[in-house]
Amino acid sequence: MPHPFDQLNLEEVRGSHSVKWSLFPEDVLPLWVADMDYPIAEPIAQAIQARLSKRIGYPQGAGDPELLDAIIAKQERLGLKGLQRENLWLTSSVVPGIYASVLALSSVGEEVITQVPVYHPFLLALSDYGRVTKANPMQPGASGWEIDFEHLESLVTPATRLLMLCNPQNPTGRVFTRSELEKLAEFALEHRLWVMVDELWADLIYEGEHVPFASLCEEIAQRTVTLTGPCKAFNTAGLGGGVAISHNRAILERMQNVSKGVGGHPNVLSMAAWLAALQHGQPWLRETLAYLKANRDFLSRFLAEKLPEVGYIPPQATYLAWLDFRALGLEDPHKFALEQAKVALNDGAIFGEGFKGYLRLNFATSRPLLQEALERLAGALKASMVDDR
Ligand SMILES: Cc1ncc(COP(=O)(O)O)c(C=O)c1O
Repeated sequence: MPHPFDQLNLEEVRGSHSVKWSLFPEDVLPLWVADMDYPIAEPIAQAIQARLSKRIGYPQGAGDPELLDAIIAKQERLGLKGLQRENLWLTSSVVPGIYASVLALSSVGEEVITQVPVYHPFLLALSDYGRVTKANPMQPGASGWEIDFEHLESLVTPATRLLMLCNPQNPTGRVFTRSELEKLAEFALEHRLWVMVDELWADLIYEGEHVPFASLCEEIAQRTVTLTGPCKAFNTAGLGGGVAISHNRAILERMQNVSKGVGGHPNVLSMAAWLAALQHGQPWLRETLAYLKANRDFLSRFLAEKLPEVGYIPPQATYLAWLDFRALGLEDPHKFALEQAKVALNDGAIFGEGFKGYLRLNFATSRPLLQEALERLAGALKASMVDDR
């Protein structure tokens, strides 16, 4: 029997309510920005409806206490223990937390280290606010995209303040192992760095185990702020909602201070949706994860059979595939995919210097649409090779 996600209603998906489906002309298949084409879980939809029947007045300043407790319980299950409500600061979404951590934990002209390729707002937060980016390119290795620890060490100077980490990693889909994270923690402690870790993708793991960075030891917990939110696992990006978590209250206070007057207050519909996701969203999430994994495996088989020139390490997490088109000799793979294949992907160049020629593909769509997009890419590449003869 076909899965309901195999039969997405395109009328519902298309339209101006969605940047993914409205930025490009109708003949383009959009597999770019990171949201899913699937409808949200029924308990979440119901919770939003139910919340509308109450008043939409100002919420409690720190957010709905029931939600804070549910987030704490969820973090405990992941392995991050000992949190109280005051160790949480609700943000309007995760990106404002990224910016606030940069502002709070470094100053203009100071250096910040991050692995690249990486979710581009990490890099934008640094350039927007005059911080110096110290990029540590990851390398393909036995366990997938790996951290180059030797190069990492060579980047540190007395002006280095902050380490920004994304785990699970966007765009490579790596889930860092406990021993890799322990090495990073040692590095941060040795050089007295603050750490911002974005763990937004922690619920979308196919292989490997999520280890919350701040759970590694008490000393690292005191130097770390963890960012997360509901939007990747539960497909609620348009509602917003995020949280900054730290055992060190002083970090959160600094982040709140730099956001004074511009951070806004928690959104009541977003909080209702997030609480429902935490309380009742697991069956939907399990089902969705199984569908995504099958999409990932379909993509792997397709690439191996029909596009073997495309470099690809299957992601252990996320619904993103990081594709290396450099061997195909295209001048601009992003433009080629968009104009010749009519498939919109993310240009690798935005994820860090040195990644021109890579493309990021979002496979959180129906299997037939994924197949069509891949066939369009394979067909356009074949045609371009014929043209070149
Ligand atoms: C690692 C990471 N952090 C943050 C975000 C954005 O989060 P939000 O929409 O809650 O600001 C994304 C979106 O793709 C992401 O991949």
